[in-house]
Amino acid sequence: MRPENLKTRIFLDGADPAETRQVMAALGFLDGQTTNPSLLAKNPEAKAHKVSGNKFSSTAIYDFYKALCQELSAMLPQGSISIEVYADAATTPAEMLKQARSFDTWIPNAHIKLPTTAAGLEAAAVLTGEGRRVNMTLVFSQSQAAAVYAATGGAGRGDVFLSPFIGRLDDRGENGMDLIRNILAMYAPSDGHVEVLTASVRSMAHFQCALALGSDIITAPASVLLAWAEAGKPLPRADYTYKAEGLVPIPEEVLSLNKSWQDYAIGHPLTDAGLEKFAADWNSLIDMQA
Ligand code: G3P
Repeated sequence: MRPENLKTRIFLDGADPAETRQVMAALGFLDGQTTNPSLLAKNPEAKAHKVSGNKFSSTAIYDFYKALCQELSAMLPQGSISIEVYADAATTPAEMLKQARSFDTWIPNAHIKLPTTAAGLEAAAVLTGEGRRVNMTLVFSQSQAAAVYAATGGAGRGDVFLSPFIGRLDDRGENGMDLIRNILAMYAPSDGHVEVLTASVRSMAHFQCALALGSDIITAPASVLLAWAEAGKPLPRADYTYKAEGLVPIPEEVLSLNKSWQDYAIGHPLTDAGLEKFAADWNSLIDMQA
């Protein structure tokens, strides 16, 4: 069962339905699931297709992803399933929109994941204008979060998720948890149409800190959720402190949320690197000649 005082929604970050079943059984609840191309490439069935001679065609990969999302959606009909568009540095907003509108027909409870780049933000503005739900991914800065807020103005509460990747900031010596704190503070006086989904969670300390900060949602790998279940699903005490040993603090910026999304600094090297890795993992499954 869900702990009584748990306000944050808990998602599984993964693309293996067997793992989803295991986590649901261990926790007794689950509020949603996030997928991405790297997680898809780790799916046990997809892995068999990485072998030369057995790769997916460029259309069969979408059939596989669709069947997976439909299986997850049937397991979590009240939850949200994030489905990520294929995008590399050259992908246009129109190409993202085409994928997004198609994904939205797969299941009734999709959030479409788009990269937080200029092209992704342009697509997000159109999609939210059509009443669709999005999850803006590969977020590494407060100004990207402000741009997402501005690009999706007018969307309903719960229609826009923002996914800051904290573990990848830690990887380069910055305290990723500070970014969550800073974005939550920036959004606090806002209309609440963007919900913060803490992602790239690598440890129980990340998980507990995101709970303590009041992240709207946390997505975590099965290893972290199973360890939390094993420990009895503890929630952080009021005096919880996060030990960011050896990590450089990320200072809070004072940013107005009232500008056009194009007026914020959108670029970030980790967004570019993340986009490249997602594209490479997706392409590793595909026979480009087929
Ligand atoms: O939810 C985002 C996540 O899948 C990325 O995690 O560990 O690859 O940075 P990681």
